Parts: sequence; C-alpha cells; structure tokens
Amino acid sequence: MDFVGSHILSVDQFERGDIDRLFDVADGLAPFAQRERITRVLQGAILSNMFFEPSTRTRVSFGSAFNLLGGDVRETTEVKASALAKGESLHDTARVLSGYSDVIVMRHPEEGSVAEFATASRVPVINAGDGANEHPSQALLDLYTVRRELAARGQGIDGLRIAVVGDLRYGRAVHSLLKLLALFDQVSVHLVSPPGLEAPEDVIAVLEDGGHAVKVYHDLGEGIHHVDILYVTRTQEERFTSPEEADRYRGLFRVNQAIYTENCEPNTVIMHPLPRDSRAQAQELDDDLNANPNLAIFRQTDNGVVVRMALFAMVLDVVDQVNDHARSVTWYTAKRTPPPN
Ligand code: NCD
Repeated sequence: MDFVGSHILSVDQFERGDIDRLFDVADGLAPFAQRERITRVLQGAILSNMFFEPSTRTRVSFGSAFNLLGGDVRETTEVKASALAKGESLHDTARVLSGYSDVIVMRHPEEGSVAEFATASRVPVINAGDGANEHPSQALLDLYTVRRELAARGQGIDGLRIAVVGDLRYGRAVHSLLKLLALFDQVSVHLVSPPGLEAPEDVIAVLEDGGHAVKVYHDLGEGIHHVDILYVTRTQEERFTSPEEADRYRGLFRVNQAIYTENCEPNTVIMHPLPRDSRAQAQELDDDLNANPNLAIFRQTDNGVVVRMALFAMVLDVVDQVNDHARSVTWYTAKRTPPPN
C-alpha cells in the first residue's frame, strides 16, 4: 500500500512488504525514541488525538510519538467534553477537526465508527481502536515486539508458534494481531479462551485460508504448551451487556509463574497489550511474573512509540527528511535499555 496520505483503519490494508517497510522505518527511528537524538521534522504539524474511550498508553504514546517528531498535539478525551455530546454527527466532527489538524488519531466505542469518521475527514485518520473490531497500531507494535524478541534468538516470524489467551471474542488487539500473523508463513496459533469468548469466525478464517494451523483450547494449561509467544489479554468487561456477564469470565484464566513453569517452554516470551487487570478477582497476568526476564510487556509499550512514530513518518511522508532536522540531545537522559519490568 501507499502509506502517504492514507487512513490506517484496519490491518486488512497491509501486505507483508508494507509491514517490513514500516518496521525498517521504526528501527531507524529508535535513537529518537530513546532520546539519543531529536528531530523537528514535523515542526508545525498538528495531531488531533481523540479518545472517546479510556486509554493510557495508546493515547500517550501516539502523542509522544508525534512530539518526538517535532509536532504538536491537541487532545479530546471524552465524549462528554466534545460536541458529540450535543448530538453532533461523526461526519460533522470529522469535517471540522480535519480543518484544524494534519492527522487525526481516534478511538471510539462503536465498531466501524473510525472508518465512518474517516470518510468525512480531509486528513489521514488512524484507528486507535473501534469497539471490539480492530486496533491496528497495537497489532503492529505487538508484531514488532515479536520480531525483536525472536530475532534475539535467531528466529523470525515465519514458523512462529503463538498462544493467544483470554477474551478473544471482544479483544480488538487480538483480532488485528491474528489477521496480521496470517501474512507470514506457517504460523501455528493456539486460541485459548473460556467457552463463549472464542475468537470470531471471520478472524479464524483469515488464518485458516492462509494455510496456518489453528487450534482452539478451553483449557489454559493445555493451550500454552509448545509456543514461542504467550499473548495474554484482559476480559473486555466494557463490551459485555451486563457486569454480571463479565463476572462469569473474569479470573478464569490466570497466568502466573507456577503455571508458566509447569506448562511453557523455558524461554517462552510473555506478552499482553495492557492494561492487565491486577484486581484480586482478575489477575490474568500475575505480578509474580515481573521478575521473569521473558516478560516483554514493558518492552512492548516502549516499542509502541517507535512504531507509531514510523506510522506518522510514513503517512505524512517525512521518512527521508527525519535526519535533516536532527541533532544530538543536550540534556541529561536516563538510560532506557533494557527497560526494567
Ligand atoms: C487494548 C485495547 O484498548 O483494546 N489496550 C491497549 O490499547 N493497549 C487492550 C485492552 O484494553 O484490554
């Protein structure tokens, strides 16, 4: 695909070569994300960061990524603080905001809302999560993390063995990641969820049509054997029709050090899009894993910045200009790698 000026709405837009290009750009931007160098390549550009659902890392990392390229960020964080609360349509909001910005990042609780918004926008729109549908930038940073973690062992994404655990029905990050994985060769996927929270048929079909091995499990221990990556997710309680319905599932699948030691290969990488639900009744990823060097969750969040920088640089067509606007950092910078868990 041509990234320049494009909306990024779904991973369905990408071919494998697009992913390789994006990741190469992200690798090149690492010194800027790590505060070794700064660039002002997007000086004067404005990002409208519109989050109509809770968010910490996606919102802040998109904003930081834009700032790290020299651009300015304007935030709208709640429906009730925006004119949508007065009955304004997505169309009109898009029409207005695209007059104030060079690019828009948007999260919204309804499936398809970001695509609808994009049809009325005059500037590129990036989907930061639309209901239970998709979360393309999360999937890209997850895949970038998989690539880096496996590269350290001399392995690539082709032939990957991955277990995806938890709420696969409503987890939009999982939907996007599974579809992205289908672009690679010979991936083996274990879909591990409680009955009722299985991955949608259409997502499974993308993998199966690509000739990948997909197995469905309802038992946590069985499902996480023999994998390179263990990707755990939160019960998406905000998508259930009643809190009682979410209560039925919460806490059913908990990964902790004992379960990991008993079932996983010794170097299985542990990932999670975060936030992990650390309340006593949930704990899908126990704090006792924090000392496990294979816990990659904070390497994942760090990778979110470079991957989002790469998306902005490609969509706004400044990849080749980044270094023309760069200089060394002159202030004290804490050492950033490797990040502590
Ligand atoms: C995910 C999301 O919002 O879909 N979070 C994120 O963006 N890192 C996953 C989740 O909320 O469970």
